[in-house]
Amino acid sequence: MRIVMIGAGYVGLVSGACFSEFGHEVVCVEKDAARLALLKAGRSPIYEPGLDDLMASNMKAGHLSFTGELAPALKGADAVFIAVGTPSRRGDGHADMSYVFAAAREIAAALAGPAVIVTKSTVPVGTGREIERIVRASRPDLEFDVASNPEFLREGSAIGDFMRPDRVVIGAESERAREVMRRLYRPLFLIETPILFTSFETAELIKYAANAFLAAKITFINEIADLCEKVGANVQDVARGMGLDGRIGRKFLHAGPGYGGSCFPKDTLALARTASEAGAPLRLVETVVEVNDRRKARMADKVVDALGGSAAGATVAVLGLTFKPNTDDMREAPSLAIVPALQKAGAAIRAFDPVGMAEAKKLLADVVWCADAYEAAAGADALAIVTEWNEFRALDLARLKASMRRAVFVDLRNIYTPADVVGAGFVYRSVGRPDPR
Ligand SMILES: NC(=O)c1ccc[n+]([C@@H]2O[C@H](COP(=O)([O-])OP(=O)(O)OC[C@H]3O[C@@H](n4cnc5c(N)ncnc54)[C@H](O)[C@@H]3O)[C@@H](O)[C@H]2O)c1
Repeated sequence: MRIVMIGAGYVGLVSGACFSEFGHEVVCVEKDAARLALLKAGRSPIYEPGLDDLMASNMKAGHLSFTGELAPALKGADAVFIAVGTPSRRGDGHADMSYVFAAAREIAAALAGPAVIVTKSTVPVGTGREIERIVRASRPDLEFDVASNPEFLREGSAIGDFMRPDRVVIGAESERAREVMRRLYRPLFLIETPILFTSFETAELIKYAANAFLAAKITFINEIADLCEKVGANVQDVARGMGLDGRIGRKFLHAGPGYGGSCFPKDTLALARTASEAGAPLRLVETVVEVNDRRKARMADKVVDALGGSAAGATVAVLGLTFKPNTDDMREAPSLAIVPALQKAGAAIRAFDPVGMAEAKKLLADVVWCADAYEAAAGADALAIVTEWNEFRALDLARLKASMRRAVFVDLRNIYTPADVVGAGFVYRSVGRPDPR
């Protein structure tokens, strides 16, 4: 089948490359000139494990190509996916739909034959119907269908998530749309992936409800971690004791500095706005948003406390800047709240991230950028692990201590065993675990 993917970012590029791996002919349309130049040269503009190889083999096989022009790409297309960004709209927290609706208008102007227009972007309830209206209004004669196909991949393991998803959700209201979507996802039918066919509204809401639930689960364990600190309990054991209950499950019960990334913050906010305007406010989700926002900034206090109550004149080595490991995505990363809060408290920052520094440099000022964890720690008073990259899991503690001015170790991801760090002579603080003496 022939697929056009509009937007070759984290979701569009991964989805496009994976569909081409399924054997479909995929053309990705990208309007950012710098991104497009990289893509045409066979290089991924984003860091995602395995993506370069997947692109290379499918470009070579002639299944995957890139262009800046939509109209020629649309010739003979069976499906046109919209995978453009839906960031938070400034001021009110609603999803900014301008890119999606612009793409819908571009499709309406250029589509020649019958095709299914599919939203892969995360879009508020009502978008599928609005896209149908936009296209119908400008092309009353055109044969087309609309479908909603939200994406659940996680950055860092996006290819595996796309190829072996827990489920595929498809909002489609015509048999023709359902049939095209079935054919596109045929390789997943063969491995018995559950495929849910629903209405547009239901598919759109499933995506937001799933993200809000996961964000709430993280926020729940983060608040339990705060309580653990007050009462001397250990949040990792609490999470394990909870998670072994099959009704709860172990995933997303890792206490840390608060969720970030390109999805949870904007999607929880947008869902809360949609719900309150629909007259069914989601108080739980509103509280999750508020608790998480406050938490990120408060993480700097943990470092200040560990330094004895003041960061004035201190140097802090920040290890990890991206919102999670195995991605270069800095959107809403906790580091973006923690670093400025530490600077405001009077600290100088030395920082290192294995792949996120190019992005981070655009977003953080007055930071000394370092080549690795040891260079960041040299001469510092405290070291803070903000993102749990694998290479930070087994640092040479003796070497760190020898190069630091003061031996303070703040582990916001609980990746070290307290006894090991204290044994190496550090003052150690983590999240929701009793401070070792
Ligand atoms: N990133 C994730 O992990 C993830 C997971 C699931 C769902 N989503 C959703 O997928 C959508 C896309 O997210 P993303 O992270 O891939 O965004 P992104 O910003 O990385 O990519 C969007 C791309 O679309 C391009 N673009 C915008 N308008 C265009 C147009 N008219 N024609 C051609 N290209 C255009 C932009 O230049 C950009 O490269 C969002 O709605 C997001 O919520 C993201």
